[in-house]
Amino acid sequence: MIMSEYKEIAVIGLGYVGLPLAIEFAKKYKVIGYDINQLRVEALNDFRDGTHEANIDDLQLVLHARNDTGLKLSADLSDVKNAEIYIVTVPTPIDHLKRPDLEPLLSASRMLGKILKSGDIVIYESTVYPGCTEEDCVPVLEEYSRLKYNVDFFCGYSPERINPGDKINTLTKIKKVTSGSTPEIALEIDRLYSSIIVAGTHLAPSMKVAEASKAIENAQRDVNISFVNELALIFDKMGIDTSDVLAAASTKWNFLNYKPGLVGGHCIGVDPYYLAHKSEALGYKPEVILSGRRVNDNMGMFVANKVIKMIVAKSGIVNGARILILGFAFKENCPDTRNTRVVDIVDELKAFNIEVDVHDPWASAEEVKSEYGIDLIAKEDFTKYNAVILAVSHQKFLELDYKQFRIDGAIVFDTKSFIDREFVDARL
Ligand SMILES: NC(=O)c1ccc[n+]([C@@H]2O[C@H](COP(=O)([O-])OP(=O)(O)OC[C@H]3O[C@@H](n4cnc5c(N)ncnc54)[C@H](O)[C@@H]3O)[C@@H](O)[C@H]2O)c1
Repeated sequence: MIMSEYKEIAVIGLGYVGLPLAIEFAKKYKVIGYDINQLRVEALNDFRDGTHEANIDDLQLVLHARNDTGLKLSADLSDVKNAEIYIVTVPTPIDHLKRPDLEPLLSASRMLGKILKSGDIVIYESTVYPGCTEEDCVPVLEEYSRLKYNVDFFCGYSPERINPGDKINTLTKIKKVTSGSTPEIALEIDRLYSSIIVAGTHLAPSMKVAEASKAIENAQRDVNISFVNELALIFDKMGIDTSDVLAAASTKWNFLNYKPGLVGGHCIGVDPYYLAHKSEALGYKPEVILSGRRVNDNMGMFVANKVIKMIVAKSGIVNGARILILGFAFKENCPDTRNTRVVDIVDELKAFNIEVDVHDPWASAEEVKSEYGIDLIAKEDFTKYNAVILAVSHQKFLELDYKQFRIDGAIVFDTKSFIDREFVDARL
């Protein structure tokens, strides 16, 4: 099969990953974007993208083109069944015990199994542990389609590497790892991605290698951040400013430039658990990966306790104190609050009977209320605080008057080394 013969590509799951991918493919191919969330599909058809990942001009362009190229968005499965290439970009979260929750992936596979035809290719992009595609998804596709893997239908795995909120390193500018279930299909898949990825592709020797490459990219980042977080805990005891130490050490050519901070979100704080789960299932309990996770998961509690100690040192009492937290998204300049660890700071402070206000100009107040039970406040509602914690370095927070916060008696704690140092009492 050659590319020009494809009737249609279907992208399953139109979130941070799926939507930009569907748009890029739709510039060259006929694409159907499918999501089980009807409201998301309606919003996108109305050019409203809550993730802020898609280029709305591009979305308008592809939604209006409808001959050999262009995008159709749908929550109706019958719209998807004519596709020949299916690309799965559904979530891969963890459960409350931090174990992989494959349900979205398996449910998408069951759904695809019911419409799979002979000759179709299913490419998974969701982040998983090595082996997941062939060991967990393929049997479901076989069972529901009654077709034979690598005889009647084929698979591929191509991990996504986008960085939410980053408008420079966008989808087509990031080299893409590709793989396929047979050498011929692997080449076919590689050619398909090469046709839209300007930065080029890297064809991995197997799907397992491609899956592992994504898992270690995120685990590596997590472990590196955990090292500087541990340094922040140590230097706090020594009364040394971690940022000053890192600035000095960074002058060596091979010193890796990581900063301490909260590690949340759908990827870095989650994917290492996928790798660890598979490793443990095979009899090896990862030491470095899981200890890194433990250090990073405890940083919110450290920040809260540090601020509490500073309040006690200043005014002797924390009961009834008021604290403003700036930022709730898991990272800067992005509305994504999934797995945000700012919630750990909030919970710890509330356990001390402290009144906590949270402000985030990016996050959706409705989502934060329904997911976390927290009412975000508007900038206009700032009053007098015992402490202000900068938790997320949204660009808009540079405009705030930190000098005034301090004049009003607040301790200012900067978890990101983002605010002008003269207005800050302590930082991570
Ligand atoms: N967000 C990132 O920056 C990023 C980067 C690289 C990789 N990833 C990985 O990509 C995958 C998707 O992440 P995301 O951030 O785009 O998630 P997301 O939550 O933003 O989007 C997933 C979409 O899939 C839809 N969905 C869920 N189950 C479905 C089903 N059975 N059929 C159709 N649609 C379904 C949801 O309604 C949602 O719109 C995850 O595995 C994630 O780890 C994410």
